[in-house]
Amino acid sequence: MKIAIMGFGTVGTGVEEILYKKRKSLLKNNFDIKIERILIKNKNKERNPHDKNLIFTDNFDEILNSPVDTVIDVTSNLEETYERIVKLMKSGKNIVTANKAVVSKYFEDLNDHARENKVYFAYEAAVAGAIPIIHPLMEEVFFNDIYEISGILNGTSNYILSKMEREGPSYDEVLKEAQELGYAEADPSADVGGLDAMRKIRILSSLAYRAKISEDEIFTFGIDKVKKSDFDFAKDLGYSIRLLGKSSLRAGKINISVMPRFLRDDFFANTFDGTNAIKVFGENFKSYELKGPGAGKLETADAIMRDLLRILAKREIKTFYQAENSYPVENNLEKKYYLRCQKVSDDLKNLISSEKIVGEDHHLITKSLRLEELIHAIGDLEGIFIAEIEEEI
Ligand code: HSE
Repeated sequence: MKIAIMGFGTVGTGVEEILYKKRKSLLKNNFDIKIERILIKNKNKERNPHDKNLIFTDNFDEILNSPVDTVIDVTSNLEETYERIVKLMKSGKNIVTANKAVVSKYFEDLNDHARENKVYFAYEAAVAGAIPIIHPLMEEVFFNDIYEISGILNGTSNYILSKMEREGPSYDEVLKEAQELGYAEADPSADVGGLDAMRKIRILSSLAYRAKISEDEIFTFGIDKVKKSDFDFAKDLGYSIRLLGKSSLRAGKINISVMPRFLRDDFFANTFDGTNAIKVFGENFKSYELKGPGAGKLETADAIMRDLLRILAKREIKTFYQAENSYPVENNLEKKYYLRCQKVSDDLKNLISSEKIVGEDHHLITKSLRLEELIHAIGDLEGIFIAEIEEEI
């Protein structure tokens, strides 16, 4: 099998390393995978691949016109990569991608292109790194009703939250560590702002409920405003704080959001550093839990390798996702929320069940209410931190 790779950053170098180091073992099992070309932006940058004969190019047309069966996309561009993937699919090339931004925004569209062009579209690496979650869901949906998914889906945020909670360093310090470890995106605002987790829960939920869920329907609140006093407040009540993407399908309505959550649940609260954790609820098994590395070089490359091998062995699912259901996103479940702010608006006052003032900060717990009511009450208050409270106090 001849392949090309678009991008040669953390994950791209991981794929090359595995293919090089495991070549003998792969060949012994008839998996003959050869990298024909690697597309990079800057040809002058020094690179250190294991295979010194690799050919690098900065010309996309060389990839498009090359005789490769499959192209691995490990870029982080959105629109440019989308257009390239469509062109590649139209020219009959299978796509294996780790690019969650593209997969999330163009999920229906890319599945349609794959179907029309009879090529494989594989994106196991786009969600939760090494954890196998996409393929189990792809298969499940044909014979099971999935009704809830929740997960710690962003390694950077989890690294920051769990470190601040246990060791108490400053936000900026831990963000820098997460960047050095290769968890964070080049622009970490997508990580700490919740966007990255939003894309991942959108992909998982659309797949699981076979329904289109637009990115802008997902309430997204990140961790970039978190302070030590939030952990102190949560701890006094016996809670940990984690950023969770969560969705459920009940009575034909979808609840879906990404936000920090106060939780006591052992599974999520005991998820530390860059680890991801996912719980899936379905009719046939009630629930299962998965935990593992959600980011990193070899970790994400591992998921790409599994996609590659499935394509090579023709075991990849070709019955592509189709949004055959249409459920409204209503966020109609009633929950209590924690808020920290310096000003309490009149709208907010009506929703409060308890309040603690420390210095300039008001730490509030709301009554049980619908997320939409909370969003309305918050209005344009600035500098606010919010978290859903997972269980009754
Ligand atoms: N920036 C992402 C994270 C990488 O922190 O989880 C994996 O998608």
